[in-house]
Amino acid sequence: MASSLPLVSLSLILAYTSATTYAQAVPAKAYTPIKGPCPADFELVRMAGSAASNQTLSTGEAAYIQSRKSDVIPSAWHTYLSNVEATGTTLPSYVSALLANSSDGPTLGIATSGGGYRAAIVGAGFLNALDGRNGTSAAAGTGGLLQGASYLSGLSGGAWFVSSLAQANFPTIQDLVFPSTEYAAPGGAGDAHVYWGGWHANYSLAAPSGDLLVDLAYVDACVSEILDKQLAGYPVTFADVWSRTLARHFANGTTESNFYDEAYPHGAGVLFSDIANTSMFESRQMPFPIVIADIDVPTTNASEIIPGDTEPLTNPIFEFNVYEMGSYDPMLSAFAPTKYLGTANGSMCVTNYDQTSFVAASSSELFNDLTFDLLNDTFGPLLAAASDTLPGLQNELYAYWPNPFYGVASDTFGASKQSNLHLVDGGEDGQVIPLQPLLVKARGIDVIVAIDVNNAENNFADGGTLIATQDRSALFPSAYSFPPVPTTTAEFTSQNLTTRPTFFGCTTTPANLSTPLVIYLANGGPPHDGAAPVTNTSTFQLTYEESEVQAMLDQTFVLATQGYPANASETTDSEWPACLACAVVDRARARAGTARSGVCESCLDRYCWS
Ligand SMILES: *[C@@H]1O[C@H](CO)[C@@H](O)[C@H](O)[C@H]1NC(C)=O
Ligand SMILES: *[C@@H]1O[C@H](CO)[C@@H](O)[C@H](O)[C@H]1NC(C)=O
Ligand SMILES: *[C@@H]1O[C@H](CO)[C@@H](O)[C@H](O)[C@H]1NC(C)=O
Ligand SMILES: *[C@@H]1O[C@H](CO)[C@@H](O)[C@H](O)[C@H]1NC(C)=O
Ligand SMILES: *[C@@H]1O[C@H](CO)[C@@H](O)[C@H](O)[C@H]1NC(C)=O
Ligand SMILES: *[C@@H]1O[C@H](CO)[C@@H](O)[C@H](O)[C@H]1NC(C)=O
Ligand SMILES: *[C@@H]1O[C@H](CO)[C@@H](O)[C@H](O)[C@H]1NC(C)=O
Ligand SMILES: *[C@@H]1O[C@H](CO)[C@@H](O)[C@H](O)[C@H]1NC(C)=O
Ligand SMILES: *[C@@H]1O[C@H](CO)[C@@H](O)[C@H](O)[C@H]1NC(C)=O
Ligand SMILES: *[C@@H]1O[C@H](CO)[C@@H](O)[C@H](O)[C@H]1NC(C)=O
Ligand SMILES: *[C@@H]1O[C@H](CO)[C@@H](O)[C@H](O)[C@H]1NC(C)=O
Ligand SMILES: *[C@@H]1O[C@H](CO)[C@@H](O)[C@H](O)[C@H]1NC(C)=O
Repeated sequence: MASSLPLVSLSLILAYTSATTYAQAVPAKAYTPIKGPCPADFELVRMAGSAASNQTLSTGEAAYIQSRKSDVIPSAWHTYLSNVEATGTTLPSYVSALLANSSDGPTLGIATSGGGYRAAIVGAGFLNALDGRNGTSAAAGTGGLLQGASYLSGLSGGAWFVSSLAQANFPTIQDLVFPSTEYAAPGGAGDAHVYWGGWHANYSLAAPSGDLLVDLAYVDACVSEILDKQLAGYPVTFADVWSRTLARHFANGTTESNFYDEAYPHGAGVLFSDIANTSMFESRQMPFPIVIADIDVPTTNASEIIPGDTEPLTNPIFEFNVYEMGSYDPMLSAFAPTKYLGTANGSMCVTNYDQTSFVAASSSELFNDLTFDLLNDTFGPLLAAASDTLPGLQNELYAYWPNPFYGVASDTFGASKQSNLHLVDGGEDGQVIPLQPLLVKARGIDVIVAIDVNNAENNFADGGTLIATQDRSALFPSAYSFPPVPTTTAEFTSQNLTTRPTFFGCTTTPANLSTPLVIYLANGGPPHDGAAPVTNTSTFQLTYEESEVQAMLDQTFVLATQGYPANASETTDSEWPACLACAVVDRARARAGTARSGVCESCLDRYCWS
């Protein structure tokens, strides 16, 4: 650390001399990439082929999905079906037959949107209502769907949620958000299944204590923790500071008692590729997690930027999964191993770059999208500490990832000649639900639960993100197909499509049977029971008391389970769990050539948009 002292600001030195000794070295060291020899047969780039002909998944993903489908999902569907049947609605017999068919049952993906801490909490609330481990959700007849899902994608605030859920070994939502017990000190015997630390939502992301001196020391610590990465020769930006802040909430290692203690790593060294080593991943008990980010490229086609957004729909979308990072979009269609991100070529291999918190920070790197005033109002102290310590840092409002695709697809990939990828918030193109990875043809997903916690009027969702995905899919017709959705947000809101569950794409022809059916669950308004809304907080609210988080989770449970009553005098639809099951199997039903019947006919009439 001594060699970094010339870069250290006066306020940082003051922080050093406070109670914490020289322990800044703990998180700073664990955050620094490591260079070493490459493994035998190392290949930095995997070309993923073309959706129209030879597209492939990584061998790791293909094996994961295959064994999850054969060993885990059949019993998950069995449990889910009994939960639905226990609600008393009689399903047509094809629903149980299709859920029992392990070779041609439904392939489900769940996508949870951006929208800051609000989206993390409300997205978690929707998943809780689908989680069969919560007895209340199981009894409501919606619980168990999560266990049947093959994929789970997150973006921005939704990426904070999805990445924290996966790295914490897929606990229940209550255990994820509010851990019941603190884990043992580093080196002690902790229980990896439960004790991971929790979200600490009542500590602000920008100024956690409200005490000026404590907060100054805190922001200086976050900045100092990235210095070793810089000294090791890697570019650092404000996104790295953001990563260190997010790590205290969404990566393992921070508790109430050590929140300000620099002797603990605070999530540094918790790697996205290490999710592969959690027991729930190893036993295929979690849906395959994916986080997405957008990219800023020098050759932006401004005519494809949705008014009010920042990045054009024609830029590639990047995904991080446990095994690899890259893009299935036709202009790149290439991947690099997640564990070796940071590697520029095959001569020396870099590890420890794929910090989970940096993946989450990249997905939520919206700083290039904010006016300086909003940025300064919201993150002023962090920005000030960053520019004090590393002048210029705050001007680089992208997350820098050394470009493994240098020289790849140079005719079509706009960042092919850049030494670093400039990743930004996954919602900057107007698509705030991370649907793109679930539309990848090789994944064969036939039904998507799309959770929308984006903010429009009153901080409620207005469906605009689905319109953006419809528009983008039309730009890449050979790569993606998306069901028809309204073309204006006015149509979404006037038809109440955001205040009730809505199914899109219920009608198919043999030619578009592989287009997924979308089950749209939006945080679009107060619950039908007349309760005052608590789920429409501002994206820039950075602090939540535990009681507020619990109230949001509980109200989201109502939103997820109320359905769309046929009779306006009722607040819940007792057939909703059955209707949801009808939608889940509907593509598999059509593939099998079975006609819709029984309650599924009236359900799809009621819930489908046409
Ligand atoms: C996929 O097929 C195209 C030709 O259709 C070929 O140019 C390309 O190299 C193939 N890619 C892979 C990864 O096999
Ligand atoms: C979190 O970190 C503690 C302390 O290092 C460890 O004992 C525990 O297993 C970790 N939990 C998870 C879910 O990684
Ligand atoms: C957050 O809540 C916990 C538990 O109620 C409490 O111990 C802690 O002091 C709170 N922290 C802040 C910064 O409010
Ligand atoms: C983590 O998992 C990967 C892939 O499943 C495996 O190759 C590696 O040996 C594991 N590492 C540890 C420390 O268990
Ligand atoms: C930009 O997008 C428009 C509309 O899709 C297209 O007509 C035009 O060719 C694109 N320009 C470039 C330089 O790619
Ligand atoms: C490979 O990357 C290293 C940095 O990791 C760099 O020093 C070296 O010049 C690169 N080699 C080539 C052939 O690009
Ligand atoms: C940024 O915000 C701080 C308060 O956090 C304020 O003192 C400062 O003047 C602001 N800077 C600018 C350039 O507005
Ligand atoms: C939440 O929505 C209600 C209308 O249902 C509105 O009155 C309130 O201002 C909204 N809250 C926020 C923080 O936007
Ligand atoms: C939308 O909901 C409002 C309030 O519940 C209701 O008055 C209106 O009739 C609904 N509109 C449609 C098209 O269902
Ligand atoms: C399939 O194509 C038909 C005919 O064009 C159209 O009506 C229907 O909406 C399409 N379905 C999907 C899921 O795209
Ligand atoms: C189930 O979810 C409800 C609604 O948020 C919550 O109040 C309850 O604590 C959860 N139960 C368990 C066991 O996690
Ligand atoms: C599963 O689905 C496939 C394809 O529709 C069908 O051939 C097979 O008979 C089904 N198996 C069972 C057990 O229903």
